[in-house]
Amino acid sequence: MTSTPLLRVTDLHTHFQTGGGLFAKRSWLKAVNGISFEIRQGEVLSLVGESGCGKSTVGRTLTQLEPSTSGQALFNGADILKMNPAEFRPLRRDIQMIFQDPFASLNPRLSIEQTLTEPLFIHGLAASRAQAREQIAETLERVGMDPRVMQRHPHEFSGGQRQRIGIARVMILKPKLVIADEAVSALDVSIQAQVLNLIKKLQRDSGISMLFISHDLGVVRHISDRVAVMYRGQIVETGDKRQIFETPQHDYTKMLLSSIPRISERVA
Ligand SMILES: Nc1ncnc2c1ncn2[C@@H]1O[C@H](COP(=O)(O)OP(=O)(O)OP(=O)(O)O)[C@@H](O)[C@H]1O
Ligand SMILES: [Mg+2]
Repeated sequence: MTSTPLLRVTDLHTHFQTGGGLFAKRSWLKAVNGISFEIRQGEVLSLVGESGCGKSTVGRTLTQLEPSTSGQALFNGADILKMNPAEFRPLRRDIQMIFQDPFASLNPRLSIEQTLTEPLFIHGLAASRAQAREQIAETLERVGMDPRVMQRHPHEFSGGQRQRIGIARVMILKPKLVIADEAVSALDVSIQAQVLNLIKKLQRDSGISMLFISHDLGVVRHISDRVAVMYRGQIVETGDKRQIFETPQHDYTKMLLSSIPRISERVA
């Protein structure tokens, strides 16, 4: 019955070499130490765990920003980890990342229109500036922004608006898999909810699959279909959202759940 998952990760390891100074011994930091999971078509899997447990390294490995040490990551049946840069190039459109601060890597001198036009040209999705402008206007509307903002520059926007534009930059490419790494962590709680709802709506409407990386179980609860709990480079528990939140099996999951601030504490 179940269809082949869009992404199937098996026994993934990403280790970093550390030390190695004049007298220091070299050693390996096993940031990702043998994890397996899958993401089905149109599904949101969250990867949750405390700071430093290896969540971002998983995302960075799947987008070839870090080399894997071993393992397999089948995307539509082809192993991402074995691809050379030329083989991976088409996937640079299919697999998109949303970061905590999407503008950190952007050129502050470029307008939003210029910023969004570039990827459309690179991936051959627009043949002219006019065509690009049309797609940009449509996408800005989908993320709840007035299309006229395309003439403006990054510093003119609030955190929430920046993240909407970051989401537009991803959605305009019609990716198959979105990896969102702490996408709302830098935002105020009230803005967080708006941006989360937007991400969820766009994901549902377009049937995109998503790996949603977050240290915040409160946020994960809003967006996930399934949840994988990560601890020190490994996944200790995976399950449907309900199962993880209502009948957690692993002690670490129970500990994480008990540390979610209650609403009253958040407001106080
Ligand atoms: N390029 C690198 N070289 C060496 N060590 C690294 C590198 N990238 C990450 N690490 C280490 O790997 C471990 C996992 O880091 P990672 O950024 O994946 O954690 P994380 O779960 O995303 O944490 P956070 O919630 O703080 O974002 C950390 O100990 C980190 O210091
Ligand atoms: Mg991280």
